[in-house]
Amino acid sequence: MAFRTHILGAAAGGGLPQWNCGCPNCTLAREGEIPTQTQSSLAVTGDGVHWAILNASPDIRQQLTDAKPLHPTGLRVLPLSSVLITNGDIDHVAGLLTLREMQPFTLFATQTIHGVLRDNPIFDALNASVVKRTPIALDRPFDLAPGLRATLFAVPGKVPLYMEGETVETQLLGENTVGVELTAAGKRVYYIPGCACLTDDLKARIRGADLLFFDGTLWADDEMITEGLGQKTGARMGHMSMSGPDGSLGAFDDLNIGQRVYVHMNNTNPVLRPGSDQRDTAEGHGWIIGQDGMEITP
Ligand code: MLT
Ligand code: MN
Ligand code: ZN
Repeated sequence: MAFRTHILGAAAGGGLPQWNCGCPNCTLAREGEIPTQTQSSLAVTGDGVHWAILNASPDIRQQLTDAKPLHPTGLRVLPLSSVLITNGDIDHVAGLLTLREMQPFTLFATQTIHGVLRDNPIFDALNASVVKRTPIALDRPFDLAPGLRATLFAVPGKVPLYMEGETVETQLLGENTVGVELTAAGKRVYYIPGCACLTDDLKARIRGADLLFFDGTLWADDEMITEGLGQKTGARMGHMSMSGPDGSLGAFDDLNIGQRVYVHMNNTNPVLRPGSDQRDTAEGHGWIIGQDGMEITP
């Protein structure tokens, strides 16, 4: 099948285990009792040959070592056409620094996200003579890679943590946080690793999709607090949770979606433990729990 997706990293920022975390999941992952997960990234091909990477995670070096379809096919010949960034969060941009070895590719993002990268001169390590930075307007289809069309659209979210001011709007709609529609071979796929809430517009857009990758950051909105790991709710972090009245678990039930996959899962999320009640519940609702290396064909 030409149109394929390959999960490079299924975890949220921090990964599983997170370097400084002694929570039950991180401890189990360190002990080899549950699978480890690297940080948020998805690879996609529309023709089975050329690939795009959606979000460049800090783990990209290991992810590209592990992902056979993206290995070099010659001395400096790669199946990689482009990298697309969906927001300016560190887990989605820090990997760009790893991609600095004079390898040609196109870097796609909104004008706003390109602005964030331009304001951080360390990203000038991506040599402009080989890495072409192309701004993408919302709701305008473009060629992400040969045989693969994409459209960016606004989803509720916030500015990156390192750009937060005194007050933070957590359900901002604009160019800071986007979802991606991917089309090839008559199939329609959505990649939305961060989403603060589900709007009617978003539901209407996703209806009938063949495959959806969606924000699985937290099981419960107060998970970080009850685990004793922080003061922030999911809502404050710009992520809707799986459970609860406004949760994502059942939010897509009536939208006739072929396959639904959780990605960007925080290391505290109990669905990362095979056999947990919460994982059974999510799978019972028809969700696939993403896993590094998983290939999913729409
Ligand atoms: C998030 O998804 O909320 C961010 O990646 C958090 C962070 O940047 O640490
Ligand atoms: Mn993140
Ligand atoms: Zn942890």
